Amino acid sequence: MRVLVVGGGGREHALCWALKRDAPDATVFAAPGNSGTAQLGTNLTIDVVEVGKVVEALKQLRIDLTIVGPEAPLAAGLADHLRAAGHAVFGPNRAAARIESSKAFAKEVMRRAGIPTAASQTFHALDAALAHIRGHVEPLVVKASGLAAGKGVVVCTTREEAGRTARAMLAEGSFGEAGREIVVEDFLQGEELSVLALTDGERLLLLPAAQDHKRLGEGDAGPNTGGMGAYCPVSIATDGLLERVRRDVFAPALRELAAQGAPYQGVLYAGLMLTADGTPCVLEFNCRFGDPEAQALLPVLPGLTQHLAAIAAGSWRPAAKALDATRAAVATVLAAAGYPDKPELGAAIIVPRDVEPGTLVFHAGAARDTNGTLRVHGGRVLTATGLGDTVAEAARRSAAACELIAFPGKTYRRDIGWREIGERGRGARAARG
Ligand code: AMP
Ligand code: GLY
Repeated sequence: MRVLVVGGGGREHALCWALKRDAPDATVFAAPGNSGTAQLGTNLTIDVVEVGKVVEALKQLRIDLTIVGPEAPLAAGLADHLRAAGHAVFGPNRAAARIESSKAFAKEVMRRAGIPTAASQTFHALDAALAHIRGHVEPLVVKASGLAAGKGVVVCTTREEAGRTARAMLAEGSFGEAGREIVVEDFLQGEELSVLALTDGERLLLLPAAQDHKRLGEGDAGPNTGGMGAYCPVSIATDGLLERVRRDVFAPALRELAAQGAPYQGVLYAGLMLTADGTPCVLEFNCRFGDPEAQALLPVLPGLTQHLAAIAAGSWRPAAKALDATRAAVATVLAAAGYPDKPELGAAIIVPRDVEPGTLVFHAGAARDTNGTLRVHGGRVLTATGLGDTVAEAARRSAAACELIAFPGKTYRRDIGWREIGERGRGARAARG
């Protein structure tokens, strides 16, 4: 099998790694890839926005399967074009990817399908938005509707702050096109959970739940980031809860998308808030694997990429309703100094060979210079995934690897998985016996 992975982050390195695990004979290409994917296959310098060139490359390289990692090419319609040219693609068409690329559309899908989510209203005009905000309870949440690399959500303590945020988005263009439409919604309280499901549009296979750590600092303090670490499994995500998420979130979302003429094929990511009464409420949908969730999930789900290939080929018949993780995983992101605002690039990175038994190091914002030296090339530089029988063991391994990896300005959280390692983890282990 010859496979192209589109994207160049930690998620795409993890996808390439999982492909080689599941099919050691597979020939792997990545576009653009990174220094990590280069260890497993060939990086291509084609610009994935130039669809004609991608189609040409697929023919020339005799690619059997394309897996699209990030949201931007999906939102731009890459999957539509490749499918139209007769290629097997894993990832939704543009119309279905709107579930992520338009928060207003996602809210409309949820409203029609009766999916639990925060009450909201969508605005294009500043005056109407400000009038609505003046009568809103505090705190409240203002979201740029379009793609904003995870930065378009502002949780506002006061109406005043919400008004300023709405003005910046709608009138001052602070998020460009993405902020020309905004969603104002109720603030939800609870614990967050990332649940991902593979689907061919009808059938559904849930992956074990993961938990992301979005804040920069330990104890979940500081600014929001693209994600500083993730772990799985999460003991509050019981079989009963996952069944409820399947029934009340994923199944109605797929039905509604299909009814709107936008059947969804790929991996659908539901970012959930478990509210006080236990209801899983949707904060957002993503049209792809999460990053860093992928770096925790893929290593503990052997055979996963065979599902991706079968979905892309249209021959998928999953035997179960959900997949179980074979082990626990903790993925810690190593970021550059200054991340997320102004990451400092260029520092040389040392990753010891066999950094730590039971760990995997995925590259993201890392690149080799002309001398072959690995250097910091982006905000999130590497992910160190520790594996173990328990989340605590996986976390110890991940932390040990993070300690051994060296680069000036190295920034990471030492508490990924803290909820699971404390009281709750002990409780869950006792319950299992
Ligand atoms: P999103 O990109 O929509 O998942 O939002 C990013 C982060 O903002 C989420 O992970 C939550 O921590 C927070 N958030 C988004 N919507 C809400 C909400 N309605 N209530 C509370 N927090 C929210
Ligand atoms: N980790 C959150 C995301 O991928 O959107």
